[in-house]
Amino acid sequence: MNDHVTTHQAEEDARNEEILIYVNGRILPKRDATISVYDSGFMLGDGVWEGLRLYDGRWAFLGDHMDRLFEAAKAIDLDIGMDRAGVVAALEATRAANAMETDAHARLMITRGIKARPFQHPGLSRSGPTLVIIIEHSRPRIPRPIRLATVPHLRGLPMTQDPKLNSHSKLNCILACIAAEKAGADEALMLDVHGFVNTTNACNFFVVRKGEVWTSTGDYCMNGITRQKVIDICRANGIPVFERNYSLVDTYGADEAFLTGTFGAQTPVSEIDGRTIGTGEAGPMTQRIRALYRAMIEGDNG
Ligand SMILES: Cc1ncc(COP(=O)(O)O)c(C=O)c1O
Repeated sequence: MNDHVTTHQAEEDARNEEILIYVNGRILPKRDATISVYDSGFMLGDGVWEGLRLYDGRWAFLGDHMDRLFEAAKAIDLDIGMDRAGVVAALEATRAANAMETDAHARLMITRGIKARPFQHPGLSRSGPTLVIIIEHSRPRIPRPIRLATVPHLRGLPMTQDPKLNSHSKLNCILACIAAEKAGADEALMLDVHGFVNTTNACNFFVVRKGEVWTSTGDYCMNGITRQKVIDICRANGIPVFERNYSLVDTYGADEAFLTGTFGAQTPVSEIDGRTIGTGEAGPMTQRIRALYRAMIEGDNG
C-alpha cells in the first residue's frame, strides 16, 4: 500500500474543476486557461511565483508576498509590466470572479512571456510577461505527521540559482523529493553545502530542543514568509528562537520538528531517516506556535 503523504495535500473539492483562472488580463474557465508552448515558463522554467492563502476574506501577509515577488522579478530582470496595485487588483478580480471568501490558495505566476523562437536566450522573450493566477478551494488535510529523509541534493550557493528565488524551475527540489519518496519518506530534508540541516524541498524546517526553537541561518533556503512569522511569534512571546547551524545529530535528537509554509502553516514531522522525533506526534511547542500563528493571521492587515 502506498502510504505517502504530501505537505500540500488538501480535501478533495469538486468545485476546483469549475474555477476561473486569470491569464494575462482575461479570466477564463479552467478548460480554456492555456498558454503558448513557446512560453518562457513552460520552455525553460524562466519565471517567478508566489503561493498565497485566503483566510476570512483576506490574503494573509499580502504585503510580504508582494515584496518578495517584486524583489524576485527584479533579481531575474523580469519586468512584471504592472505595479503592486495592479498585481493585487488581478488577484482580487480572480478571487471575486470565483466568489471565494476563505480557505482558498492562490498560485500567482509570472514568466518572461512568449518566445519568438524555441531557444534559451532571454532576448527571444519579446511579447511581455505572462501572468497567470490559479486560485483553488483549499482546506489542507495532511492525515498524519510528515516523514522526512535526507537526500544527496544540496541547497546550493547563491551564485548557482540562488535558493532564495521562488523560480519556476524547481528541478533541484523535485529531484530531492523523488529521492525522499524512493527512500520511503514523504518529503526531503536538504542539507546546505557545509552539511548543516537547512530546509525541505517545499517547506522551511524547524526543530525544538529543550524549549528552544531552532532553524537554519537562512543562507541557503527560501526566505519563507511563514518561517519569518514563526521567528517573529517566538520573539514576541518569549520563546527562545535561534537561526543557526546545526547538524543531523541535533536534529535526530530534537524533542519536536515541524515544517512551515503558506499552505500548511506548521506541519509536524514524525520521523527523519527512520528515527522517531520526540513522540512522533505534534508536540506542545508546535501546537502553541500553530495557535499563535492562527491568531496572527486573524489580526493581519496585509
Ligand atoms: C522551497 C520552499 N521552501 C519554503 C517555502 C515556504 O515559503 P512560504 O512560507 O513563504 O510559503 C516554499 C514556498 O514557496 C518553497 O518553495
